[in-house]
Amino acid sequence: MCGVFGIIFQKERSDLGQILLEAAKRLTYRGYDSVGVATVSKDGSCELRKDVGTVEEVNAKYKFHELSGFKGIAQLRWATFGVPMQKNAQPHYDCDKDMVGAHNGNIVNTIELKKMFVQEGHTVRGDNDGEMVVHAIEKYYDEFGNMDTAIRKGAEILKGDYACVITRIDDDKMYCVKQGSSLYLGIGDGFVCASSDLPSIIPLTKRIVPLKDGEYVEFTFDRYEIRHIESGEKINRVPQVMDISAEAATKAGYPHFMLKEIYEQPERIHALLEYLKFDTNLMKYVNTLAKSRYTYLVGSGTSYHACVIGSYFFARMASKAVFPCEAGRFLENFGSTLSKEDTIVLVSQSGETKDAINILNACEGKAKILSLVNVVGSTIMMRSSLNIPLCCDLEISVPATKTFMNQILTFYYLAAKMSEESEYMEITKRLPELVKQSLELATSQIEELLQDDIDFSDMYVLGYGITHGLALEGALKIKEVVYNHCEGMYSSEFKHGPLSIVKEGYPIVFVTHDSQARMILSHINEVTCRNGLAIAVTNESSEIESNVHKVIRYPDCHAILPPFLGLPALQLFAYYLAVKMGNDPDLPRNLSKTITVD
Ligand code: M6R
Repeated sequence: MCGVFGIIFQKERSDLGQILLEAAKRLTYRGYDSVGVATVSKDGSCELRKDVGTVEEVNAKYKFHELSGFKGIAQLRWATFGVPMQKNAQPHYDCDKDMVGAHNGNIVNTIELKKMFVQEGHTVRGDNDGEMVVHAIEKYYDEFGNMDTAIRKGAEILKGDYACVITRIDDDKMYCVKQGSSLYLGIGDGFVCASSDLPSIIPLTKRIVPLKDGEYVEFTFDRYEIRHIESGEKINRVPQVMDISAEAATKAGYPHFMLKEIYEQPERIHALLEYLKFDTNLMKYVNTLAKSRYTYLVGSGTSYHACVIGSYFFARMASKAVFPCEAGRFLENFGSTLSKEDTIVLVSQSGETKDAINILNACEGKAKILSLVNVVGSTIMMRSSLNIPLCCDLEISVPATKTFMNQILTFYYLAAKMSEESEYMEITKRLPELVKQSLELATSQIEELLQDDIDFSDMYVLGYGITHGLALEGALKIKEVVYNHCEGMYSSEFKHGPLSIVKEGYPIVFVTHDSQARMILSHINEVTCRNGLAIAVTNESSEIESNVHKVIRYPDCHAILPPFLGLPALQLFAYYLAVKMGNDPDLPRNLSKTITVD
């Protein structure tokens, strides 16, 4: 995944470079291998500066903030085609430098295209797929003399999923294309911009036009025209005002977005509960699930772990068997078994994850498709028949935190609605306060634990029943930001092989609740009698506490609530350990927030 941003004003702006720099910083979570900006001035000159490194590093060298102009493009790269080096950084010029553009996504026929362009006499400067987008549009511009035809014909030869922003140096227009990767338009006072994601637009304007796959836009500083790529037909779509605070795009005094987003959880839980109370589609959603023959909860990474917990909620609270499945595995495993009586619930923070979009593409019309998505206007949200928004505002840190909390809360709420037990709904009222207490309790205990001389370079996180998905999520969070080996597992499974890793002082975290004591004590003792170091994340339980070496306590709660109250301890453990190791938890190496590739 990469991030691209383009903006056009009426007049020359001395702060254009600064605006592009700010936008690039806000898209950093999408890619941090290389960065570049291009600015165009009314006198027909264009300045292109780009290189390998983070936004800060490249800006220190090339002074983006000093650039002026009336339109410009910024791009952040997460390398797929072409090693990170200056010639592969984006934006790219066409052959004669009268067009400049950048993309986000993956052009899978890059090698063939490069060969063809070279044979046709194009000046291809690098190996990056974004450069092929520019040459493809240039090829048809040279043939037909207008950008509309060039974009539409270019799209025919570009294979893969992408979004791009491109402009000619000699006019007052800009163009963007959405073909499988995210793209939004922002309509401001005296400018129009296009971006891969909302964090770079929201501080400038809240008037957003979400775009759909297969659409392109011609825009100037005061108008935009959306058209179908295939038919060329014009599409009328007015901007929506997004209820997202500009504050969400800042760290608000926290050292990292991850910590800020962890601490926002009580407030986000409250926002979601308020939304669900008045959601007019909620019972339609619940009834679709209740009547479904087979129901699959499907997501990737953290979103998949929410599905694992969701499946427990439906079984325990509503006696409804539903199956969690990793998005990347779903089609291979269940694709051939689907019928119209089945329901797939796609779960995603971004609403753009390729593994999930593949399911949309393959299963539309074959099964009912519902979704839980955070990013309003995203592909999954727009294409599913019913959606519940996660109400988390922007989540900027690469590790998902608050969106996981609200994913499991949405499953809990749906299961509670499906169940006959009124107690389940009743206890949600105390949830924001309980999570707040859990955060407060966890902070000091984690700080204390990390002062001990424990080697966490290799470890396990085990959970049982309702805490299994939580253990998986805790382990993912730790490995994602700490860069250690950390495996999450069902605690009964540990003795079937992995137990052999245990030696003196080997750390194993048990995520549990006093209601699980009878079973979990056996699992704990299998480890401690081999001199392993057992750490429990639990509510108050003298039995569990007396059998482990270290305890991280969360507030006392109903046996169905541990996923909500045990989560802050694991998130904070990952966060503080990463910081202790000198890692930047917001931008873990090799990762990107939204994975739009296979
Ligand atoms: O946007 P999505 O929820 O679809 O993303 C899925 C995963 O890529 C994501 O949860 C990833 O595992 C997170 N970075 C984990 O913190």
